[in-house]
Amino acid sequence: MRLSFLALAATAIAVASAAPAPVKRATKPNVVLGYWVPWGDVPVASLDMTKYTHINYGFGVTAKRNPKVTDIYFDRYYDGNNVKALVKRGNENGVPILISIGGWTGSQTLSTISADAGLRKTFINNAMVFVRNNTLPDWASEPDGWNMHGIDLDWEYPGRGGAICNTVSPNDSANYLVLLRELRAQLDLEFPNDRKLLTAAVRVQPFDGTDGKPMANVAAFATYFDWVAIMAYDIMGGWSATTGPNAPFNNGPAGKADQFSFVQGIDSWTKAGFPLSKIVAGTAFYGRSVTTTVNMNTQNPISMYVNKTNVTPKGGPADRNDINYFCNEGSVYSGMWKWKEIRGSILTGGVTTPAPGWTRYWDADTQTPWLYGTAANTFISYDDVQSMTIKVNYAKQAGIRGVMLWDMSYDYNNELINVLQNIHCTSNCPVVTTVVPSPTTTTASVPVTTTTTTGGPGPTTSNPVGPCAGVAAWNSATVYPTAGAKVTYSGRLFTNAWWTQNETPVAGSTSGVWKDGGAC
Ligand SMILES: *[C@@H]1O[C@H](CO)[C@@H](O)[C@H](O)[C@H]1NC(C)=O
Ligand SMILES: *[C@@H]1O[C@H](CO)[C@@H](O)[C@H](O)[C@H]1NC(C)=O
Ligand SMILES: *[C@@H]1O[C@H](CO)[C@@H](O)[C@H](O)[C@H]1NC(C)=O
Repeated sequence: MRLSFLALAATAIAVASAAPAPVKRATKPNVVLGYWVPWGDVPVASLDMTKYTHINYGFGVTAKRNPKVTDIYFDRYYDGNNVKALVKRGNENGVPILISIGGWTGSQTLSTISADAGLRKTFINNAMVFVRNNTLPDWASEPDGWNMHGIDLDWEYPGRGGAICNTVSPNDSANYLVLLRELRAQLDLEFPNDRKLLTAAVRVQPFDGTDGKPMANVAAFATYFDWVAIMAYDIMGGWSATTGPNAPFNNGPAGKADQFSFVQGIDSWTKAGFPLSKIVAGTAFYGRSVTTTVNMNTQNPISMYVNKTNVTPKGGPADRNDINYFCNEGSVYSGMWKWKEIRGSILTGGVTTPAPGWTRYWDADTQTPWLYGTAANTFISYDDVQSMTIKVNYAKQAGIRGVMLWDMSYDYNNELINVLQNIHCTSNCPVVTTVVPSPTTTTASVPVTTTTTTGGPGPTTSNPVGPCAGVAAWNSATVYPTAGAKVTYSGRLFTNAWWTQNETPVAGSTSGVWKDGGAC
């Protein structure tokens, strides 16, 4: 791994306001925000820019091992060519490109910076380098401006422990607000005619206050942020006591599952005063694996919550146990399976059709699929076309700004990013009926209980009406033995033509096993 250090701070100079930017700004009102990281190994030239409205480059890193706490280094290696290529393609396609500062291992000194007026000033000047236009001829070696369209702060987390290298203070959130006010002011001062974006990635709960608990009111932050993107994933994984969902749509049962989810995250931020128009909900294009201590196929009833070992196994083929350069948290695997790895190694027969030795289950409470592999007692909680459809339809229905995905290198043949395009739906958009999980029953691989139907935004607990009323949602585990069985899927009514199991209905199909009977 090459680490060529670029002291961005060294070249920070006062730069006059740039001319209005030539970038064509995104015209779609809803956001589809992707994170692009250099180690994802997806060349910028190969990106389908039409699928994204905004792209965050991950990451600019603050770390204790940087010479100064206010220095911002590119994560993993100096990758100025990728930044330039992204900005160029962004300009050509009307897709603003933001620098994301922080991340899991790159948030180490944000607490220190935020607490001190002088450090904030230096840090802001360093951060401005990413959005300033270059004015020096020796750009290749000493860039003084990357001409990006905004700054995304990925502080993980204000007022709460994250990576073990972080400094944390009970004053973090209060200080964060001051940093944001000053950063917003500097952006507006230098770019009065070319408004730069200021956004953040956030936990499923609002920022923590001085008492160490999520703040009841974070409306003040909305003054400065164009939006916050909720990281509604990494809810349960190798660190949890049992197996459980990585990125649940709804909370799993209390007492079994950590009480966080896609719906909860949107609710929590909304209830704390953050406007819907500034909430973007994050999705995971990956799953997380752990090793169970039981055969999940023989549990009665089948449950996605069982005991596990304490050692997180190697996830997909690309999972590495390298020690992170910026923060040594040990040589451990993440257990992560990218969607393209799941499709390439496990769901080899199709989106819902696993290879021998693996079984796919659908969890009715969290509205997510999971896999169990007998060979090594492997449990994987992940998202697929079905669960992603529920999430994005709900995001649309809830009226939030859009959806985010981590990350742009994980997809398989655009299967998941294509689902996220539903956020741009303008009429007869599917309505998702959320399920309140029962605290007493065990989650089982039972038929889907969330149904989708078309219509305007409505209460999230209403029953579907119209042609789909009373029709159960399609379930991959259910056998439909005779022709004529009706199911709903993705807001449409389908009828089977012959015996089937585990074949996903396809919208518009007239010749497959599931004939499309139109929107509900
Ligand atoms: C940045 O500077 C270059 C020339 O140095 C110019 O072509 C480009 O239009 C400028 N971009 C902005 C946003 O001002
Ligand atoms: C938090 O801020 C208060 C008020 O400014 C200050 O008295 C206190 O020392 C700060 N605490 C820490 C841990 O920095
Ligand atoms: C699971 O682990 C818990 C805590 O270690 C233990 O009390 C329980 O008996 C275990 N359950 C099974 C089925 O092994």
